[in-house]
Amino acid sequence: MTDRSEKQTLEYKGRVGEERSGLRLKAKVAIVTGGASGIGEATARVFAEQGARMVVLADIQDELGNQVAASIGTQRCTYIHCDVADEEQVQNLVQSTVDAYGQVDIMFSNAGILSPSQQTVPELDMSQLDRLFAVNVRGMAACVKHAARAMLEGRVRGSIVCTASVGGSHGGPNATDYIMSKHAVLGLMRSASVQLAEHGIRVNCVSPNGLATPLTCKQRGMSEEEGQEVYRKYARLQGVVLTPKHVADAVLFLVSDDSAFVTALDLRVDGGFTLPSISISNSILL
Ligand SMILES: NC(=O)c1ccc[n+]([C@@H]2O[C@H](COP(=O)([O-])OP(=O)(O)OC[C@H]3O[C@@H](n4cnc5c(N)ncnc54)[C@H](O)[C@@H]3O)[C@@H](O)[C@H]2O)c1
Repeated sequence: MTDRSEKQTLEYKGRVGEERSGLRLKAKVAIVTGGASGIGEATARVFAEQGARMVVLADIQDELGNQVAASIGTQRCTYIHCDVADEEQVQNLVQSTVDAYGQVDIMFSNAGILSPSQQTVPELDMSQLDRLFAVNVRGMAACVKHAARAMLEGRVRGSIVCTASVGGSHGGPNATDYIMSKHAVLGLMRSASVQLAEHGIRVNCVSPNGLATPLTCKQRGMSEEEGQEVYRKYARLQGVVLTPKHVADAVLFLVSDDSAFVTALDLRVDGGFTLPSISISNSILL
């Protein structure tokens, strides 16, 4: 047997072993921003279930964040206050994770907000836009920057995933600042994926369609059930309603070895909603 085929066999054995153990994130150290609620919380739970050595939740909702960490188990999950709009706090988040657990393998940069008003172009409130950009764009960039630095310094072939949105590649009737911010997240991901690829660091986005989380339910004054009913009609795919767990499972794919050769991907979790299509019966092309 040649060295190369021996190495391939060993790698293959390693993967089979991991699959057998059923744990796709065995021994990984992960940071999840916006981890106290919604998509971040669901993803933190999936990471811990999949064997992550430590999941560090970063959020500004301290009581909720501590509750989520305690419910996952303090040996697997911890909470740190971090406002992603403040670069120093992001730097401390990453540094304290490295100091406590040795490295950062996974950064799920997910914290995001909506503006409190409609934000149509003629009615744009610039101070709301600035606040939203501070979190959704500047915060996302700070998380990617400091995770990348830690991975480079630690020679970790890590995985970074940012939460964008289907709004990141479409226009919309309102939420202009939010849609602009998610376009920026895709630009950040694409630049980072190009620049970090030579170091084996993968950078991808997950882009959900609208779904019922505290973010959207509070904004629209809806319960979770009402929210699910509202969003059900936006899905082309029938028989399933988008939940935070669906998004978390897509993130798991992006951070695990199942996507070992995937970088620069915007993985849409939208039930086919954004796929351009023609109606065959109405089409003049046929
Ligand atoms: N819910 C949707 O319909 C939807 C669709 C597409 C994309 N997204 C994106 O998904 C991500 C998560 O949203 P969600 O729906 O789970 O909302 P959520 O409100 O349930 O969770 C977001 C979390 O981010 C935290 N957060 C807000 N500002 C922060 C800051 N400055 N620093 C640290 N944490 C902060 C919040 O406290 C909250 O716990 C966001 O980036 C959002 O834009 C949501």
